Amino acid sequence: MGPVLRSGRPLQLTLAVLKPDAVAHPLVLEAVHETILNNKFLIVRNKELVWRREDSQRFYQEHSGRFFYQRLVEFMSSGPMRAYILAHEDAVTLWRSLMGPTRVYQARNTAPDSIRGAYGLTDTRNTTHGSDSTASASREIAFFFPEFNESHWYQEDEPRLRCGLACYDAAEHVHSLPKDGRTESY
Ligand code: RTP
Ligand code: MG
Repeated sequence: MGPVLRSGRPLQLTLAVLKPDAVAHPLVLEAVHETILNNKFLIVRNKELVWRREDSQRFYQEHSGRFFYQRLVEFMSSGPMRAYILAHEDAVTLWRSLMGPTRVYQARNTAPDSIRGAYGLTDTRNTTHGSDSTASASREIAFFFPEFNESHWYQEDEPRLRCGLACYDAAEHVHSLPKDGRTESY
């Protein structure tokens, strides 16, 4: 796959997570990955990980006390997940609209072609997570990728990526900039 043609508009980051129900099912994992690529997201980082119960509790702190909290915490620490840092001109909103509504009944009825509409199993096992604002994205990216330097990315990588310099590395499942420092598009 060649470089992704871009508009030249600034890129925004979001955090996308394929939850344990998606990662447990290779065809779903592959289909969601394809959806990411087909919608011209740049995959800045991706990793598979398993949460401890404490990670799950900490990440979903804002929902503690809600009726679904225990269920959610158990589920999100029940098996491997895949997390992505995605870049796009409209990353936060686009990823959320691709996911569809949180509730699977609503997703199937109102957005059957969305990720949750197509693959969601229940309101808890609903395939994906997506940051709901740029502020949430920064916080959640730091939670999942503590080694990632977001301000460095915006300063150094974003100006080059927005011009379409990235190529997709199918083995690593990430887009990367040319290593030799070339600045012209190719
Ligand atoms: P997310 O945070 O996962 O991207 O999804 P969201 O903004 O659409 O949903 P949110 O309200 O933030 O809820 C976080 C996750 O909690 C689970 N949930 N279960 N009625 C229920 O049983 C219920 N409501 C929410 C879902 O897994 C949701 O993604
Ligand atoms: Mg949310």
